[in-house]
Amino acid sequence: MSDLQRGIAMEFVRVTEAAALRASRWLGNGNKEQVDQAASDAMRGMLDLISIKGTVIIGEGEKDRAPMLHIGEKVGNWNEDGPGVDIAVDPVDGTRLVANGLPNALSVVAAGEHGSLLPVPSFYMHKLACGPALKGKLDINAGVRENLKVAAAVLNKDVKDLTILILDRERHLSLIEEVRRAGARIKLISDGDVAGAIATAINSIDIYMGIGGAPEGVLAAAALRCLDGEIQTKFYATDDSEKEKIAAAGYQLDKVYYTEDLAKGEEIIFSATGITGGEFLEGVSFRGNQTAVTHSIVMRAKYRTVRYIKAIHNLKYKTIPSRARNTEEKV
Ligand code: FBP
Repeated sequence: MSDLQRGIAMEFVRVTEAAALRASRWLGNGNKEQVDQAASDAMRGMLDLISIKGTVIIGEGEKDRAPMLHIGEKVGNWNEDGPGVDIAVDPVDGTRLVANGLPNALSVVAAGEHGSLLPVPSFYMHKLACGPALKGKLDINAGVRENLKVAAAVLNKDVKDLTILILDRERHLSLIEEVRRAGARIKLISDGDVAGAIATAINSIDIYMGIGGAPEGVLAAAALRCLDGEIQTKFYATDDSEKEKIAAAGYQLDKVYYTEDLAKGEEIIFSATGITGGEFLEGVSFRGNQTAVTHSIVMRAKYRTVRYIKAIHNLKYKTIPSRARNTEEKV
């Protein structure tokens, strides 16, 4: 991608903004499929305006029942001189959050040169994410207590002053118990572990740990590459059939996949827009009857400049292309 990447990075903000705007119209509607479809449609429509030869390598899985952004799908305008780009998308990380009007949902895109983003299958991964200060210090194979002790020593804090973010799931009951016994503080989130992992490099979360989606792990890795943070991951199978499928896809259960394994090289772009306000981005707000405000973060691994973009959208004029209906539509 090289120099072209500069301009392209800003184009990706438009993509996540459009998806967030569309999804946010369905805030609290109780229907997560509708939320996801609205965001996917807008994301797909906007991606095609970018001068790239794009291929989706992480997209909407079967569980989302989305009609587009499938793995292998070609996106971008495919102009002769456009660069070849691999794309990882999550139009809504936290569909349930939006459907239930809860915080922490993001629209997310990562892009990189061909082969730079690991095309992981849609299973689970153990994850351990942290910001720059703890990078290289923790070990996903070590015990929870040991990692917390190391983190406290490196950060020059007591263990009781550490904040650990964990997805609120039954499978994490023993993890939560271990963190409690070690004496650290816990913040539970009901969904949205891309935001959770990124929060370790941006605000007062020290470590994100637990089991979440593998595709979300790659998206978090792309962001953490730009933020100088780290994510360590290992595949997690819920049964023997998943074990076989993970192996058949060419991945190993006992191998640690580090940040650079998931998102490698310098030509990584990451963009996210808040749908509902969360750890580091405000959500979409509608002001008066003509204005919507979005908050996004866009960054590149090459120079690691982190840009926060607040956009004020004039809804009288703004349109978003709908891929499904092949029209330009008001928000
Ligand atoms: P979706 O918005 O795609 O449903 O993902 C939300 C999410 O919370 C992810 O952030 C996380 O990685 C995954 O679901 C965890 O999966 P599960 O809900 O099955 O525990």
